[in-house]
Amino acid sequence: MIVVENLVKTFGGFHAVDGASLRIEQGSITGLIGPNGAGKTTLFNVISGVLQPTSGRVTMMGEDITGLPPHELFHKGLLRTFQIAHEFSSMTVRENLMMVPGAQSGETLWNAWFGRKGIAEEERALMAKADEVLEFLTIDHLKDEKAGNLSGGQKKLLELGRTMMVDAKIVFLDEVGAGVNRTLLNTIGDAIIRLNKERDYTFVVIEHDMDFIGRLCDPVICMAEGRVLAEGTLAEIKANEQVIEAYLGTGLKNKDKVMS
Ligand SMILES: Nc1ncnc2c1ncn2[C@@H]1O[C@H](COP(=O)(O)OP(=O)(O)OP(=O)(O)O)[C@@H](O)[C@H]1O
Ligand SMILES: [Mg+2]
Repeated sequence: MIVVENLVKTFGGFHAVDGASLRIEQGSITGLIGPNGAGKTTLFNVISGVLQPTSGRVTMMGEDITGLPPHELFHKGLLRTFQIAHEFSSMTVRENLMMVPGAQSGETLWNAWFGRKGIAEEERALMAKADEVLEFLTIDHLKDEKAGNLSGGQKKLLELGRTMMVDAKIVFLDEVGAGVNRTLLNTIGDAIIRLNKERDYTFVVIEHDMDFIGRLCDPVICMAEGRVLAEGTLAEIKANEQVIEAYLGTGLKNKDKVMS
């Protein structure tokens, strides 16, 4: 579905992504792991159009999408969430979902000509869709809560919910598990698996929690120093010498994460 060829992204003289090549199979939940600073987020930023690549190519279903802006990729069904959740804190959870660009037709010519009725109907449809998403994610009881009052994990679920307001084909999740308690992490994992099985979403998941990666992801791709080191099942990755060395190089904290 996605092919990345020789992608490079430099900041000043520093190669954050240094010739990364990988393929994401349609229908997969692909894990992306690697020690801190490996270039995972930068790779996501380039694929999702947040950053322009220095060089290299990204295709989606054979179409060259290199450097396309996020809103164009969004319309093609390529969405991402951020390592730090972005929410409109003074709006309710439901309103946050209803705000997703592309979920509504907005101020169209139709609305301008035919007046408020169309808008009211559309708003009802949007609200119903938002409620359905919240039910799917098992957070419908939070719909009228201000998004700013949500826990870190609940904000991550809301981010996932935003991808469900439009017809996403592939979703890039950056550290959905960071700072999330076990119960909520399981809920997030369940939602990802169901979206993959029932709604044909393809996922690429960056995560440091290896239990989470092991439960969800096949294959797993490991990056270090801006390059792809290895790809395989989590068990294969864990047994890979280069992977072990890459984690060892960054100290015990990271090593324990991948080898526990
Ligand atoms: N805007 C930037 N300007 C300069 N350097 C950057 C920028 N963004 C990232 N880097 C550097 O590029 C490298 C890769 O960073 P990146 O955030 O992609 O890593 P990561 O694999 O996502 O790490 P983590 O697991 O800690 O989130 C790091 O050394 C980082 O300091
Ligand atoms: Mg990152």
